[in-house]
Amino acid sequence: MPLPQRVRIVEVGPRDGLQNEPTQVPTAAKIELIDRLSATGLQTIEATSFVSPKWVPQLADAAEVYAGIDRRPGVAYPVLVPNLQGYERARAVGATEVAVFTAASEAFNRRNTNAGIDESLERFAPVLERARADGVQVRGYVSTVLGCPYQGEVPLADVVRVARALHAMGCYEVSLGDTIGVGTPGKARAMLRAVAAEVPMPALAVHFHDTWGQALANVLACLEEGVAVVDSAVAGAGGCPYAKGASGNVASEDVVYMLHGLGIETGVDLERLAVTGRWLAGLLGRETGSKAGKALAAAG
Ligand code: HMG
Ligand code: MG
Repeated sequence: MPLPQRVRIVEVGPRDGLQNEPTQVPTAAKIELIDRLSATGLQTIEATSFVSPKWVPQLADAAEVYAGIDRRPGVAYPVLVPNLQGYERARAVGATEVAVFTAASEAFNRRNTNAGIDESLERFAPVLERARADGVQVRGYVSTVLGCPYQGEVPLADVVRVARALHAMGCYEVSLGDTIGVGTPGKARAMLRAVAAEVPMPALAVHFHDTWGQALANVLACLEEGVAVVDSAVAGAGGCPYAKGASGNVASEDVVYMLHGLGIETGVDLERLAVTGRWLAGLLGRETGSKAGKALAAAG
């Protein structure tokens, strides 16, 4: 299978990144982050999350953030919604793309959303129905595709079942999430291959956290399988608040550097992205989690 010529990066830093950072980032800085990201050429930026503010206080200002961003033409700004209440909050500030999320592991989904997998799919049915009527695009996430912090191993058949269900409900794209970053390339490849037998590859994305340092290798294995949409977070920010020990997403800068090195187009200005990553890290009071970001800084 030849590598794709072009990859769309779904930048999840403002949502997946900031939802788990111990530092509370001011609303104005979140807005600035998103606007800086859209200036790098990224086409998709997950802006925030309309989940319960009691569950994720870091993103309690979702409405203010969404309303404050400078929506650049041609850029999609999806937001996470767990239920119809979240959808309505997102629509009230003008969101035109949302993302629903569930898991391949029952135990994780209960901790993350207080619902079983099937119950969460039932919650999404009215969201998808309303979205269809409103002309809103819906992305779907499956978490714990390569392992669960509570259950351990996750059978491939469970990943395939949930991914197929989200696609059949009308999600235009299903992102396969290694929530706790335990996957290795062979397992990532086998997982993607199994899902792609049931859901068309152009409707699939991969989402790796880098807990064990395998994320970039996993991305490459999945590119070789034909995936052309990759989720990542600038500066490698974040993690999941309901997956203890999970580290940040693979850094967007590192993904872009690798893709460009492979001759794959992204439309992203790496230098600008790296500057944004270092700016964000400064805001969070630490070093950037991107090796490419650090190397670029060192090279001046
Ligand atoms: P619940 O407590 O079962 O909800 O939480 P409920 O329906 O019983 O409602 C309880 C209260 O929450 C009520 O308020 C509701 O109004 C309120 P009260 O009457 O007590 O004042 N509520 C809401 N408020 C604002 N917005 C809403 C909303 N819904 C209910 N949308 C719920 C269920 C799903 C809401 C909760 O569990 C939740 O918000 N969970 C989200 C957890 C989360 O955000 N996790 C991280 C995102 S997933 C992730 O990171 C993985 C991913 O990156 C992929 C990967 O890496 O694998 C996507
Ligand atoms: Mg994630």
